[in-house]
Amino acid sequence: MSDRSEFVVVANRLPVDRVNGEDGAPSWRRSPGGLVTAIAPVMRARDGAWIGWPGAPDEELEPFVEDGMHLVPVGLSALEVERYYEGFSNATLWPLYHDVIAPPVYERKLWDAYVKVNRRFAEKAAEVAAERAVVWVQDYQLQLVPAMLRELRPDLRIGFFLHIPFPPMELFWQLPWRRQIIEGLLGADLVGFQRPGAAANFLRLARRLLDGRTSGQMAFVGDRAVRAAAFPISVDVRELEALIGDPAVRRRAEEIRADLGGAKVLLGVDRLDYTKGIAQRLQAFGELFRDGDLKPGEAVFVQIATPSRERVEQYRLLRDQIEQEVGRINGEYAELGLPVIHYLHTSYTRDELAALYLAADVMVVTPLRDGMNLVAKEYVACRTDHRGALVLSEFAGAADELKRAFLVNPYDINGLKATLLEALRAEPAEQSRRMRPMRRRVIEHDVDRWAREFLTALENPHHPDQPSAR
Ligand code: ADP
Ligand code: F6P
Repeated sequence: MSDRSEFVVVANRLPVDRVNGEDGAPSWRRSPGGLVTAIAPVMRARDGAWIGWPGAPDEELEPFVEDGMHLVPVGLSALEVERYYEGFSNATLWPLYHDVIAPPVYERKLWDAYVKVNRRFAEKAAEVAAERAVVWVQDYQLQLVPAMLRELRPDLRIGFFLHIPFPPMELFWQLPWRRQIIEGLLGADLVGFQRPGAAANFLRLARRLLDGRTSGQMAFVGDRAVRAAAFPISVDVRELEALIGDPAVRRRAEEIRADLGGAKVLLGVDRLDYTKGIAQRLQAFGELFRDGDLKPGEAVFVQIATPSRERVEQYRLLRDQIEQEVGRINGEYAELGLPVIHYLHTSYTRDELAALYLAADVMVVTPLRDGMNLVAKEYVACRTDHRGALVLSEFAGAADELKRAFLVNPYDINGLKATLLEALRAEPAEQSRRMRPMRRRVIEHDVDRWAREFLTALENPHHPDQPSAR
């Protein structure tokens, strides 16, 4: 019992991916995405265990410690990677939960793999968790785990947090396995979402699909009460402030600006994902040159696009589309030595990202739908000088909190063009008037507070601040 953990995180991925260097030697690299950014600092503080997939097929690894975290690998075969991860998680659920921007694939063999792999994660969590431990299950890849785990270990406190949007009933209804997903989530004691609307969507479905009773934030399943509520996720402000306080990072930011020849710098940082609205922002930016509002050398767009889910069809198509669009815009508007877009299809260290945030005059975050978007909050956290401008999509969860951003509808290309110009032309006083309250918000609502609030709600359901169970 002694090597079991009092606190267990269960996520599709471990916070590090196993990669093979050029010499063939294996090493570990931080995994992409907002989930890792948010949970890693919480894990380090709580000395728990993190159960997840090491990021490559057919790896059977023993538990190990990396970067101060106790990691417990769950292996996936190549076929499971294809059907559970690339298939049901990222070709079915991901597009369905993001407004069906791409058409979801509904295939029974993908669902079967999802069930099988969710069961494996649940069994591993049942094995690792100490008596009455707290288990925190993460994200859409593992929505069946709460109910499976409860069946195996009714003594546990089980929380679930969905990092991505939760769709309205009208869309969710398409899913052939809609009932099983809702039942899976209802195995938790607390189901957390990014936005209140998502929690309301879930409760509505619970009521409709299961003929269940709900009241306020509570759903009642047999003799159990399940709470569904919003806990908007955030960033590690102290980590980011430490990074930008580092003279080497500041020098690097200066160097980036010098390399870009003194042009105003617009920056995009995303996983290369069709939900991020990368094509829309590049189109709008390109048209500003066509219309004569901008000239080469005056402004430059740096688009960092982390490779993501590269074997999924829609992601392959997106990569071709973006790379064609970058080529077209540079081909039409760049001059010798003066490209208008720098496109970098790669992942960066936290230091380099912080330097980029410091170097950027305008941060452009234009998802067509996003659960939260941590990049927007990271930029704000890094602007201790209250300079810079954030252009932010109304369809990102972050827009609920970062109300002083230059808000845009990314589907409206003319609106996007006008907003990009407005942000580029904002005077320092205007930049500061907007940045100051946004920074305050992010500082006060950082990732520690997010985790504390979620875990307090999970561990103390009868606390006077919590809504009553009946
Ligand atoms: P998502 O979870 O959909 O990827 P978020 O914006 O919420 O989107 O989180 C992305 C996280 O990944 C942020 O912490 C961001 O700094 C990090 N990130 C994004 N692009 C890169 C990159 N090219 N290199 C390193 N980290 C990146
Ligand atoms: O936040 C959404 C999310 O899918 C996380 O669950 C995940 O860790 C991250 O984006 C990156 O995606 P993937 O693990 O598919 O590379």
